[in-house]
Amino acid sequence: MPTVSIPALGLQLQAEPDENLLKVLRRHRVPIGWSCKRGECGSCKCVLERGEVDLRGYQPGALPASQREQGIILACSSRIVGDVQLGLVDTDDYIEHPLRSLACRVLWLRELAPEVFALRLRIVADLAEGAEDAGGAAGGTADGTADGAASAGGPFMFSAGQYAHLRVRDARGEWIGRDFSMAGTPVEAEYDGELEFHIRRTPTGSFSGLLGGAIAAGTELRLEGPMGKAYFRPRHEGPLYAVAAGTGLGPMLSVVQTALDNGKTDPVVLYAGFRNVSEVYGVDRMEQLARRHANFRAHVVVEFDAPGGLRGGRVGDALFADVKDLRDAKVYLAGSPAMVEAVSAELLTRGLASRDVHADAFYAPAPEALSAEQAGGARG
Ligand SMILES: Cc1cc2nc3c(=O)[nH]c(=O)nc-3n(C[C@H](O)[C@H](O)[C@H](O)COP(=O)(O)OP(=O)(O)OC[C@H]3O[C@@H](n4cnc5c(N)ncnc54)[C@H](O)[C@@H]3O)c2cc1C
Ligand code: FES
Repeated sequence: MPTVSIPALGLQLQAEPDENLLKVLRRHRVPIGWSCKRGECGSCKCVLERGEVDLRGYQPGALPASQREQGIILACSSRIVGDVQLGLVDTDDYIEHPLRSLACRVLWLRELAPEVFALRLRIVADLAEGAEDAGGAAGGTADGTADGAASAGGPFMFSAGQYAHLRVRDARGEWIGRDFSMAGTPVEAEYDGELEFHIRRTPTGSFSGLLGGAIAAGTELRLEGPMGKAYFRPRHEGPLYAVAAGTGLGPMLSVVQTALDNGKTDPVVLYAGFRNVSEVYGVDRMEQLARRHANFRAHVVVEFDAPGGLRGGRVGDALFADVKDLRDAKVYLAGSPAMVEAVSAELLTRGLASRDVHADAFYAPAPEALSAEQAGGARG
């Protein structure tokens, strides 16, 4: 029986001949990232230090030839042909929190700027398998307190920068779900059982249009998460830049606050971009962080109508005007796909390695995903 050894983790795993390597690693709960499971995303990279695997059927973009020459393989596209020794590329990149399904209740909804809301939730119950149709708080207390919340699976854990899928019943009783990034810190979730999201309301939006109507204090929501790979890497040493467009500020505040709370002493710089001055929010929290941490700076950048005293232009241009040397830096980005894609591409052009660009674009769900959800009433 072939053996998969991972000296960095002190593991010796048994595998079946011809078994898929990712399957072996997941069966033994090795902390490796994965997403597509078909050689397209590159999430499941590891280093083949000794031995051979049968590696095939992947996209060249997921594993460039230069990386393959350095011994990097994709676990999902590798079959076991004998004993192998593996190294993880960077264990910081493989933080994995268990995916949870929770019942939450809205504590409050607060308007941060016109059509931008902070939605604060309290976790009221861990939805055990099959409890979905039980209704009510599925075990939460009548007043929505966190007593026993998430007790079955322990506290809800995520890494700053991750997101969750929120679902609510609309007026017709159908589940409507969208992805939203956590704007609070992992500590608040773990110790207080509370989660915050910053959401732009589109009055005609299927989910966001319910804010202030079907979604108000006391409303019960379902949450699945955490998800996402653009999370804070705590072992990184070097400058941290966080770039936000609109409500992308939520996860970026979570990232910079977590970095500073963790005692990061390198420069931590936040670029908060907005289209118009009326959309600006979060300044109090940025000022509070700047008062507490000498290594933190925040730049509010307004694209179209910046008054005197505020920086005008596009948020990415502000970053590139200020930062000429990206050596040792990591850049986190969140918000509109246009900003995230353009700034990420420019960072790579300027020589920043893709492993140092952690981006989450707020893509709208594809129409087929919406119809599947509405037909099925729940997300996979
Ligand atoms: C990983 C991730 C994290 C996110 N985090 C946040 C967050 O923290 N805060 C936040 O405000 N948003 C976030 N989003 C976006 C959010 O999930 C919703 O897409 C957004 O709120 C729109 O939902 P809605 O209910 O307002 O409108 P929808 O009903 O989804 O429609 C929004 C608008 O877009 C149009 N539209 C819908 N689908 C399409 C399509 N496929 N192509 C073109 N047009 C379309 C509609 O006509 C409408 O005008 C995130 C998205 C992702 C993927
Ligand atoms: S999981 Fe996507 S490439 Fe392996």
